[in-house]
Amino acid sequence: MARRPFIAGNWKMYKGPAEADTLAMALRRALVDVGAVDVAVAPPFVSLAVVGARLKHSGVHLAAQDLHPAAEGAFTGAVSGEMLKQAGCAYVIVGHSERRALFGEDDALVNQKVLAALRAGLLPILCVGETLAERDAGQERAVVTRQLEAGLRGVPADQLPSLTIAYEPVWAIGTGRSASPAQAQELHATIRAWLGAQYPAFVGASLRIQYGGSVKPANAAALLSQPDIDGALVGGASLDADDFFAIIRAAGGRPATAL
Ligand code: 13P
Repeated sequence: MARRPFIAGNWKMYKGPAEADTLAMALRRALVDVGAVDVAVAPPFVSLAVVGARLKHSGVHLAAQDLHPAAEGAFTGAVSGEMLKQAGCAYVIVGHSERRALFGEDDALVNQKVLAALRAGLLPILCVGETLAERDAGQERAVVTRQLEAGLRGVPADQLPSLTIAYEPVWAIGTGRSASPAQAQELHATIRAWLGAQYPAFVGASLRIQYGGSVKPANAAALLSQPDIDGALVGGASLDADDFFAIIRAAGGRPATAL
């Protein structure tokens, strides 16, 4: 089954509403035609509205970077999936390694967030990936399958194809040191084989697995040409419209034909 490439930009804690509007305008100019590629951007919560308005009907989907598991309640500072849906989000990133490492999110909470996203009608992008110490100890496969098993607990098989898995080795994030195409492909194949062993065949065949970690225009084509790499979750390079568009082109997006 052919999987549609999916390129998402995680803006992290960059671009408040004014700068986000400028970047969204630049994206809109570059992305007249994204072709056969699914594209999403995940600005900070406060910039969702302005980016959503700017990218309306552009073919670029809106994503959020996190959600709270509850639909509403006395959770000061939190935002629910239902609210994100109302704000125009199609996707939500769940379990990013920065959330796990810096905000204390464990596998159980990540699982609650995956279930909450589906309940709200959002498409979760579930992030998994090992640290450098875990890789040095030869634990990368065990870590990633543990994160998958826990993160996907209770998700019905027929809902799984609406998820995206993002394999993001922690040692490659923001370091300029991407996994090599072969290293990434190896883990993507591991993830797909694990899905194939746990679920009916259509799940492993149709679920998209993005690679994330120092994806740039210079390495995107080599990574995306791997058979089990279906797209990219891009951090730093997604803050530059030209770089982001170059990565989309590497995934098969067509160049802009008109302004
Ligand atoms: P960089 O592309 O900046 O390494 O970030 C990757 C990432 O964490 C995307 O979620």
